[in-house]
Parts: sequence; structure tokens; C-alpha cells
Amino acid sequence: MPTPYTVGIAGLTGKLARLIAHNLLQASTPSRPIHIRGLVRDLTSPNLLPASPSITLIHGTSTDLAAATAFATGCDVVLCCYLSIDDGMMLAAHKLLIDACVAARTVRRFFPADWTLDYTRLSPGDLPPKDVMLAVREYLVNSAPGVEGVHVLNGAFMDTIFSGFFGLLELDSSGDDEGVWRCWGDGEEVWELSTYASTAAFTAAAVLDESAVGVLKFLGDRKTSAEIVATLNRVYNTHIHLEHRGSLAELFATMYERRAPLKDDPSYGAYLQYMPLFYEYFCTTGLAHLGPLDALDNARYPSIKPETLEDFLRRTPLRELEVAFSKAGTVV
Ligand SMILES: NC(=O)c1ccc[n+]([C@@H]2O[C@H](COP(=O)([O-])OP(=O)(O)OC[C@H]3O[C@@H](n4cnc5c(N)ncnc54)[C@H](OP(=O)(O)O)[C@@H]3O)[C@@H](O)[C@H]2O)c1
Repeated sequence: MPTPYTVGIAGLTGKLARLIAHNLLQASTPSRPIHIRGLVRDLTSPNLLPASPSITLIHGTSTDLAAATAFATGCDVVLCCYLSIDDGMMLAAHKLLIDACVAARTVRRFFPADWTLDYTRLSPGDLPPKDVMLAVREYLVNSAPGVEGVHVLNGAFMDTIFSGFFGLLELDSSGDDEGVWRCWGDGEEVWELSTYASTAAFTAAAVLDESAVGVLKFLGDRKTSAEIVATLNRVYNTHIHLEHRGSLAELFATMYERRAPLKDDPSYGAYLQYMPLFYEYFCTTGLAHLGPLDALDNARYPSIKPETLEDFLRRTPLRELEVAFSKAGTVV
């Protein structure tokens, strides 16, 4: 029996983590068996994958270096799938995991919790949550001998853009299938989109491809707000129309105005007042775009056909769009 290729996933209870693990286990063969080591803070979580001889769970919090080192030891590659609005926690947790990977001596590559727009084009302070990822990228380059960073970029998850977080889509509650898409700009701004499912498939492929290092860009679709509305109306036979909130310059001013009195408030309620606007700004201005589809890394894994917006809508009932993100990690 060959030695399994061992993949460590910190935060294995997360939606994307579960999908990546599922893809990896599907790819396991007798000649290349794959084993998953999952670091979780709650061994009774309802979000654990079904027990399997191919999965070993390690209990540990994000601050427990001993648990992280035990988790990383024996792994060939480690992924961090944490998600939190606590930037201090995210940075410290990444550094601790990277230190654990260095100490383990077996880990050759580390995937930080990126899965986002192209933050490598931004400067610290532009999009505050991405300051953490800029710092993690630097930490991997300067403080992780023997461990290479792999940064998967995928634009915005299309599973999330219809949620209340962004507040873009509002369907008529009367059930008439009328609605509005409230965007900033003139409607011609491009959103770069991927589903959780396609991103997990690409990430799993990169995990298994030992030559994959550095920044990898995968996308399922690029659509303007006007095109998103047209696709919604075509797929669901709805009468959704575009509503303009203001120019992108007004969005820029508004996001800073809203943040100013709240920036030291760590609550999710405060974060919701302004951070969706920051994300909308950087998703649609092009400042953090990955680029045209043919300039991406999709072709590196030609067997993966990423879902387009239309694919995603066709598998999602209209009235479930708002909560689609919460079901993204469902492993079938
Ligand atoms: N591009 C986009 O539009 C977009 C949108 C969403 C997410 N993302 C990215 O995708 C990645 C995964 O997101 P997701 O939606 O899969 O996240 P998720 O389902 O919310 O899962 C988050 C994971 O982080 C763990 N976690 C949170 N706080 C923690 C803490 N203090 N200590 C230890 N573990 C903690 C959770 O553990 P418990 O289960 O114990 O809580 C869970 O395993 C993130 O890197 C995120 O940046 C991108």
C-alpha cells in the first residue's frame, strides 16, 4: 500500500473546507491514496464530515501551537480554511499554523485562507480584511523556510452575492417575482464570480498538484450588474430591475463615512454597516480584478468545468438565493 498523500485542513468544519475535503477523497485511488487530517475546535460540531478511515480529526483551538504542530506533523500540505471578522485572530492563527508547518518539517506547501479577489494588487488599508492576507503572504515568503505559499483567488462567491450581507437583491415579498438589484455605479461594472463548489474543485486539484505554488487564479464567470439582472430574469422568468444607488465615487465616500464612527467596534453588527460596501467597491471597480477568463489558471486543470452564473442559478430555486451561501458546504 503506497504512503497516503496527507492533506491537513485547519477549520475542517467550514463550508469550503468540507467541499475541498470531499473533492480530495473522491480523487483518492489505491495507487495514490489521500488522507485528510482535520484541525477542529469542536469535536461535536454538527458540521463535521461523516466519520471515515480516510479522515483523522485533531482537536485544537487557533491559539494552541502544540495541537497545530501535532496536526501538521506528517502532512504533505496544509490549508487554513478559517473565516472570522476578527483580523487579529486571523493573522495570529495563520502565523501559528505556518510556524507549526515549519516545525513539522514534512509540509512543503501552505494554502492560506485566501479564496477572494486579487488582493495582491491592493495596498494595506485599501480593503481592511485583506491586510491580513497581505501580511500572511509576506510571512510565508520571509519566515517559513521550506514551506511555499499557494494563494487561490476566485473573485466573489456567487453563492454569497444574493445574501443580505450585500443587500443587492431584494425580491418582492408578495411573491410576484418582481424585485430590484441595487448597485452602485451605472450597472456596467464587472463582478468576478465563482461558486464554492467550483472553487473547491480547483483548490483540490491544486492541492494534489505538487508543482502548484504561488498565486493561482480561477473564475467561473464575469458579469456586469446589468448582465446579472438579465440572467436572473431569463432563468427565473422574473421582472427584476436595476436600481442605482449612486456613482462609484459616492460609494467610496459612503463606505468611509459609515466606517469612521464604527471602525473600533468589533461587533458583527458594526462590520455589516460598512464592510459590504468595501467589498462591493473592490469587487466592481476592477482594482482587485483577476482579469479576463483566458488569462487565468482555469486551463491548468481542464477536466474542471467551473459553474457559470447561469449554471448556479439553474440549480438554485429563486426564493433560496438569499440563503444559498449557508448551504454551500453541503456535501452530496
Ligand atoms: N470570495 C468570497 O466571496 C468569500 C466569501 C466567503 C468566504 N470566503 C473565503 O473562504 C474561506 C472559507 O470560508 P467559509 O465560508 O467556508 O467559512 P465558514 O463556513 O464560516 O467556516 C469557517 C471555519 O473557520 C473556523 N473558525 C472561525 N473562527 C475560528 C476561531 N476563532 N478559531 C478556530 N476556528 C475558527 C470555523 O470553525 P467552527 O465550525 O468551529 O465555527 C469553521 O471551521 C475563507 O478563507 C474566506 O476568506 C470567500
